[in-house]
Amino acid sequence: MIDRVKAIIHLDNLIHNFNLLKAVYQNKRVMAVVKADAYGHGSVEVAKHLETHGCDFFAVTDLLEGIELRQAGIQSDILLFGKTSPQNIDKIKHYHLTQTIDSLEYAQSLNSYGIRIQTHIVIDTGMSRFGIYCQHQEDIKETAEEVEKMMALLHLNHQGIYTHFAAADEEKEAFTKHQYDVFCQLIQAIEFKGLDLGIKHCSNSAAILKYRDRHMDMVRTGIAMYGYPPIKTKLNFLPVMDVFARVISLRKIRPGDGISYGITHIAKKDMRLASIAIGYADGYNRLLSNQDYFFYKGKKLKVMGRVCMGVTMVDVSHIDIQVGDFVEVFGQNKPLDQMATQLNTITYELLTNMSKKRVIFEYSK
Ligand SMILES: Cc1ncc(COP(=O)(O)O)c(C=O)c1O
Repeated sequence: MIDRVKAIIHLDNLIHNFNLLKAVYQNKRVMAVVKADAYGHGSVEVAKHLETHGCDFFAVTDLLEGIELRQAGIQSDILLFGKTSPQNIDKIKHYHLTQTIDSLEYAQSLNSYGIRIQTHIVIDTGMSRFGIYCQHQEDIKETAEEVEKMMALLHLNHQGIYTHFAAADEEKEAFTKHQYDVFCQLIQAIEFKGLDLGIKHCSNSAAILKYRDRHMDMVRTGIAMYGYPPIKTKLNFLPVMDVFARVISLRKIRPGDGISYGITHIAKKDMRLASIAIGYADGYNRLLSNQDYFFYKGKKLKVMGRVCMGVTMVDVSHIDIQVGDFVEVFGQNKPLDQMATQLNTITYELLTNMSKKRVIFEYSK
């Protein structure tokens, strides 16, 4: 049976969320983060739809993701968060991509090819992941000098500078404030020398919603745009992805019968079970065995036994359901953030886990 699992991507909800964030940011520039295939939603479709609705800056992880968008016809700026091997600088140029530079050494190495490309400088103010190390006041002078040297390189066309908050979605306000303050002081120190830093940006989804006085010249949003703000908000974000899986088999079982691998559940009474065509290979986490439910016509269908590679059994004793029907795995009626909490993970991971090879994606406007 084809269409075992389908993901419906609500592009209207995506625009609704994007516009909510834009309004928070007083309709200024919002960069859409569409890395990792737009958090599993399909970067080409997502970026195309956003571009026709006014988004003019995208961010992806690497060259391959950037090229995919250009080949699909995306015209707007595309920032590569990750590094590109200097030997591939001709591709950055050819596809008009914007390269993040994280050190003077890397900048010099790109510059040595004599090919003019657009760049943003990244500063590490506290994430300890990427960027020029500047986590303390005492690092500012040296970092400012490094940035100055980077900006003086002949073939790098400096367009912006950014940092990334490590804990804007947590109750670590003092830490985030420190990151912001160091970044601002660095900017001041560089601008004091008369240099134009271009687009300055620092806020991710959590910071856009929580720290409204720190938005700078552009904000970068990912997860909130896909419907899952990482902090509590009164704004009405709508899930963009709904996942449905098909009933492929129905059976009656008797008291004492075991269910699924390991027989971790034994029926206590007569039951009707449905086998649903989704499992861990599709992106439905095995740790949800015996823990979760699917949703069908207003009713919860409890997951019974272990999640298999491509099948999960649920209790349908109380409902009328047929082979071929679809049940909701997560989406409008079954909150993904609850599943994430249950799994001690984040919505980002669950969204990006949906397998592009096994799940059919449909786009609805
Ligand atoms: C540098 C950078 N900016 C912005 C974002 C978007 O973050 P969020 O999805 O929390 O809005 C990310 C995502 O991880 C990122 O790596």
